[in-house]
Amino acid sequence: MCGIFGMLGQNAVADTLKALKTLEYRGYDSAGIAVKDGNGIKLFKTVGRVENLKDAIPSEVYGTLAIGHTRWATHGEVCQGNAHPFYSADKNFAIVHNGIIENHLSLKYQLSSVGVDFSSQTDSETVAHLLQKNYKNSVLDSVLATANQLEGSFAIVVANTYDDNLYAIKNKSPLVVGINRDGAYFCSDVRCLSRWVDKVAVAPDNVVAVANRQSVAFYDFKGNPVSVKFFAVENAEEISGADGDYMLKEILEIPEKIRQAKQGYFKSGGLSLPAKTVHRVKRIYLIGCGTAYNSGLEAAAIARKMLSIDVIPVIASEFIYDNYPVDSYTLAFFISQSGETADTIRAVEKVREQGGFTYAVTNTQASSLCFVCDKVKNIYADGEYAVASTKAYNCQLVTLLLLLTDVSYLKGAIDDETRKKIVESIDVLPTAIDKVLSNSYQIAKLAEEIKDSSAVFFIGRTADYPTACEGSLKLKEISYIHSEAYPAGELKHGTLALMEKGVTVVAIACDSLQIDKMALSISEVATRGAKVVCVSPYSFENTALLSIPVVNRYLYGILSVVPLQLLAYYVAKRLGRDVDKPRNLAKSVTVE
Ligand code: AGP
Ligand code: GLU
Repeated sequence: MCGIFGMLGQNAVADTLKALKTLEYRGYDSAGIAVKDGNGIKLFKTVGRVENLKDAIPSEVYGTLAIGHTRWATHGEVCQGNAHPFYSADKNFAIVHNGIIENHLSLKYQLSSVGVDFSSQTDSETVAHLLQKNYKNSVLDSVLATANQLEGSFAIVVANTYDDNLYAIKNKSPLVVGINRDGAYFCSDVRCLSRWVDKVAVAPDNVVAVANRQSVAFYDFKGNPVSVKFFAVENAEEISGADGDYMLKEILEIPEKIRQAKQGYFKSGGLSLPAKTVHRVKRIYLIGCGTAYNSGLEAAAIARKMLSIDVIPVIASEFIYDNYPVDSYTLAFFISQSGETADTIRAVEKVREQGGFTYAVTNTQASSLCFVCDKVKNIYADGEYAVASTKAYNCQLVTLLLLLTDVSYLKGAIDDETRKKIVESIDVLPTAIDKVLSNSYQIAKLAEEIKDSSAVFFIGRTADYPTACEGSLKLKEISYIHSEAYPAGELKHGTLALMEKGVTVVAIACDSLQIDKMALSISEVATRGAKVVCVSPYSFENTALLSIPVVNRYLYGILSVVPLQLLAYYVAKRLGRDVDKPRNLAKSVTVE
């Protein structure tokens, strides 16, 4: 995962270096910059940190067009030769790339067979050579032709010597576009860009973007114009002191990892259980601890909308010592990011002993959990390092939704059309989450307002309740503020007694059938002096609204947790906590 940046404007060198510093959380194997001046394009690169790169650039270097890169190597070792940017052989093009060009070997073969020499081991360098090969007399045509030859995930920024524009190609890797009075910018992340611009657009997949100093135009890969909306952002520079925190990096990865989770699910064969086996199932357990349990809680709420058999979420340590019924009609999913959680593994043993079918849903292949379960499904979230689990939760939910949709279909509880609709609806999530992430400045502001709360309660109904549980867990584990989650209707049976000035209530209100009831609960707590924050696609009186886009009703859990993950992060930062390594906790709990 790399950071890319490109800009047209005054002080391009200094500003690109500033941007790379902010983007360093995305990778720090090497850093590089390409600057266009009157004499062509100049490259500067170095292994290691952006700090080293600064020293490698002579002070007289100046330009009004620059592109930059911080690398997290996927193809080719960490060395100067593999650092981005890359030139085309004639040096008329230079590129930076985030992602993986999946067909780079065949492209390399084609290019080598017509005499192109490669200077690096990366997949990315092929793009620079393709641009040169495809150039006739229009840079845009060359960029479009190149875009059509690429497979995989890519956000690429292109500098060239033929015209004064900056170009970008985007598919599946993040690319944010910004403009201000003096120039245009391409960047991997909104937070970084908001330092310079007050308007940004999230580039959709399969587009080429062309920027001059006044405007940015978008085209599909056939060259047809695409209209992309710009929206306002506030300067988030003062909240970017977070550079280097894994937790923030992992939250920002969520859109990309959700795509990966869905793709991975199908590539690895989907549910891969015989229809006969599924048909026999009379009871489903979703078992895990902490965040993994919360994802089971949410998945069960979703499954209840489809299936009429029992779908029961259980905390692993409770399952081991209580008498939950298990027999050969039982299917148990064991959810664990690390795949090493002792309680969860013990629960597997219990189900196995009693003749149930065990199915692991994990982020860690070859972990202990994989060896004890009958079947294993990866969630494809990639390494998660912050103790507070974030992206793994979203990927667990995508995977569980797909698994339970397939179970429902095979059991005849939903038809093929419904199944397809659910599967397709997942594709809107990355863009919806990008929108939420672009609102981080508002969430950071809110964090400042609630950081001194005496307690924070999270409330929700039906499928919003598990989100409340996860939001509460996130906040308490890294900020150390006392926090609890409740089904909203339960407040009046006791917890309402705690509502007073100084208390914050976070209400998650996405279930459209529960809006009136949620409005009532919000009014009950607000009347008693609590500050109310609401996460919802709808608006409510007397609340600070963290608005989220409207999505399919099965998907709200995956989307509405993101502002809560960010809120926890910013509150903890404001309180000066070590967000990645909170006190008393460990990433993987291998004791019972
Ligand atoms: C939550 O952010 C975590 N700190 C913790 O609750 C975790 O989810 C739990 O320990 C389960 O871990 P696992 O997914 O690796 O099994
Ligand atoms: N594949 C490119 C490289 O290895 C980019 C890596 C990335 O974006 O993670 O340099």
